[in-house]
Amino acid sequence: MRLVKLIANLGYGSRKEIQTAIRNGWLTDRQGNTLKADSPTPHEDILFDDEPLDPAPGMVLLLNKPVGYTCSTKDQGRLVYDLLPDRFRMRKPVLSTIGRLDKDTSGALLFTDDGTFLHQVISPKAEVPKIYEAVLDRPLKGDEAALFASGEMMLESEVKPLKPAELEVLSETHVRLTLHEGRYHQVRRMFAATGNHVQELARIRIGKLDLEGVAEGEWKLLGEEDKARIFG
Ligand code: URA
Repeated sequence: MRLVKLIANLGYGSRKEIQTAIRNGWLTDRQGNTLKADSPTPHEDILFDDEPLDPAPGMVLLLNKPVGYTCSTKDQGRLVYDLLPDRFRMRKPVLSTIGRLDKDTSGALLFTDDGTFLHQVISPKAEVPKIYEAVLDRPLKGDEAALFASGEMMLESEVKPLKPAELEVLSETHVRLTLHEGRYHQVRRMFAATGNHVQELARIRIGKLDLEGVAEGEWKLLGEEDKARIFG
């Protein structure tokens, strides 16, 4: 891909602005040679203003989402994209979340600009486990684990039963729940159906990928090993 298009697609500016940057000599390789519009330079060797370029298309990010941020590009209020560099909103192909978390849910949220990868993760066939921890308003009654594991639980206004989910009791108001699908507000609706209410909800893992080393509100670029953990 020509340099102007490559850099513009990363969100550094319009094609016109990138042409100006090239004319001004702001694009160089790692040896300090000024790049021209038709210089065939590998992505990892290009510097913009002496800084390495943002990751090439095909990136996957893991954000530790705080409560209070919405998974949307255009809703009112704070958005999960506010926690990423501004440039990432201007990228082509666009950067999307892989699934969503409610505004009031915290924890592991993936982003990618790779449509194939996105579908691999959310595909019902992949059944990537999503692991949540919830704090409940009321103590468990005792029959929740069996109901959630039954494969017969129906949520209101749905026609298909939920896939079996595993409930681990950490205390009478603190649980870990593993889901193999992602329906709208699923965890909150499952507990509401048992007469309880989820006070706090966090997604702690996607597959075997956890949030170790990623503080709340921070994100990291995933390498091949981390990406493999999602399916692991
Ligand atoms: N279940 C919910 O209720 N909310 C989420 O954000 C994710 C799963």
